[in-house]
Amino acid sequence: MQYGSFPAYRPRRMRDGELARTMIRETGLSADDFIYPLFVKPGTGCRDEIPSMPGVYQVSLDMLMAEVNELLDLGVHYVLLFGIPASKDEVGSSAWDEHGVVQEACRIIRAEAPSMYIICDVCMCEYTSHGHCGKLDEDGYVNNDATLELLSNEAVSMARAGAHMIAPSDMMDGRVGAIRAALDEAGFERIPILSYSTKYASAFYGPFRDAADSSPSFGDRRAYQMDPANAQEGVREAFYDIAEGADMVMVKPALSYLDVLRRVKSETGFPTVAYNVSGEYSMVKAAAAQGWIDEKRVVLELLMSMKRAGADMIITYHAKEAARWLSE
Ligand code: PBG
Ligand code: ZN
Repeated sequence: MQYGSFPAYRPRRMRDGELARTMIRETGLSADDFIYPLFVKPGTGCRDEIPSMPGVYQVSLDMLMAEVNELLDLGVHYVLLFGIPASKDEVGSSAWDEHGVVQEACRIIRAEAPSMYIICDVCMCEYTSHGHCGKLDEDGYVNNDATLELLSNEAVSMARAGAHMIAPSDMMDGRVGAIRAALDEAGFERIPILSYSTKYASAFYGPFRDAADSSPSFGDRRAYQMDPANAQEGVREAFYDIAEGADMVMVKPALSYLDVLRRVKSETGFPTVAYNVSGEYSMVKAAAAQGWIDEKRVVLELLMSMKRAGADMIITYHAKEAARWLSE
C-alpha cells in the first residue's frame, strides 16, 4: 500500500482532539470483552482476599451472588469458575462430585442470575492431593491417557450442574476430543468447549496457585505445559484442539505472548481468548500500590494491547475495575 508523505499527509491531523481520534480508532474495549475468574470454596461467610492478588477473593457459596450481581451491574456477563474443594485425594475425585463446590455454584448462579454466562475450568490440580493436573504413575509421571477419563467425568459433571461452557486447562494430549465425546454422549452436544490450547509453563501463575491452592507438591508442569520458547508449536496446539472440536482457543499468559496471540488468531481464524493471568495482575497491583504507575491508564492500555493483538475475549482479574473505568 502507498501512504502519503509530508506535507500532504500529516498524521497529527487525526490526533487533534478526542472526536478526531475516535474516528480512526482501530480497536475497541468494553465490558463485553471480559471474563472474570471466580474462586469458590465451601463453608459460609467467607470472602477471603488473596494476599498476592489484592481485590480478588475466595468466596463461599452464600457470598457468591453478591459477587455475581456486582459483575452484572458493571456489565460483565461471563465468569470462569474455579473450585477450592472440601477434600482432595490422589485422583481428584471431588472434581466430579455432584455436590462439589463448583457444581453447587453453577446451580446457584443458574437459579438466581440467569443472564450470567458460566464457564467452568476443567483440570485436576485443584482437586488432587499432589497438585498435578492429572493422574500420577508410580514414578510421578502424569499419565496422559488415564487422565482423559477423569477430565471427561469432571466436564460432564459441570455440564449437569448447569455450566454453559467447559474450559479444559490441563494440557493433556487428546483431551478436547475426549471431553467432546463425553459431553456428546451425555446429551450435552450444545455445550461449547473453550480450550486452553496454547498454555505455557509460566512463572506468571504463581499468585493463582495461592488463590486456588493448586501448587504441585513436587516438580513442575513442564512435562505437560508448553515451553515459553515455542511460538510455532503454540499455533500447532491451537489447530490440534480445533480439529478435536474446540469452539474457542486460548493463549495463556497474555502479556509475554502477544506475538503468539496474534499468530493463533491470524493463522487459525478462530475465536481466540487471552488469559491475563494472576502474576500479570499482581505486578500491576504492586506497582500501583507504590504509586509508581497510573493504574487505570496502565490497565486499560494492557487490555487494549491484548485486543489489538487479536483477542476476541480477555479473562482478567481487572474486569471489575476496568468495566467501571470504561463506563466513567
Ligand atoms: C489450572 C489453571 C492454572 C491457571 C488457570 N487454570 C494454573 C496452572 O496451570 O498452574 C492459571 C491462572 C492464573 O495464573 O491466573 N491448571
Ligand atoms: Zn491444572
